[in-house]
Amino acid sequence: MKATVDPDRCQGHARCWEIAPEVFGLDEEGHGTVLVGEVPAEHREAARRAADNCPERAITVR
Ligand code: F3S
Repeated sequence: MKATVDPDRCQGHARCWEIAPEVFGLDEEGHGTVLVGEVPAEHREAARRAADNCPERAITVR
């Protein structure tokens, strides 16, 4: 599984980081970043939940 954050959609709500801090970080402007190339199996559920909870629908997991 890979996760991506669309920088054009992200508004810095930070829910991704709150829900899945092993997968998502925040850059210096508070926008979501992806910390891992491949999401480890034990964090996939959290990554999906983060994508579902992003108010801007900026996160894609596949
Ligand atoms: Fe951005 Fe959504 Fe995370 S708006 S900071 S990708 S919760």
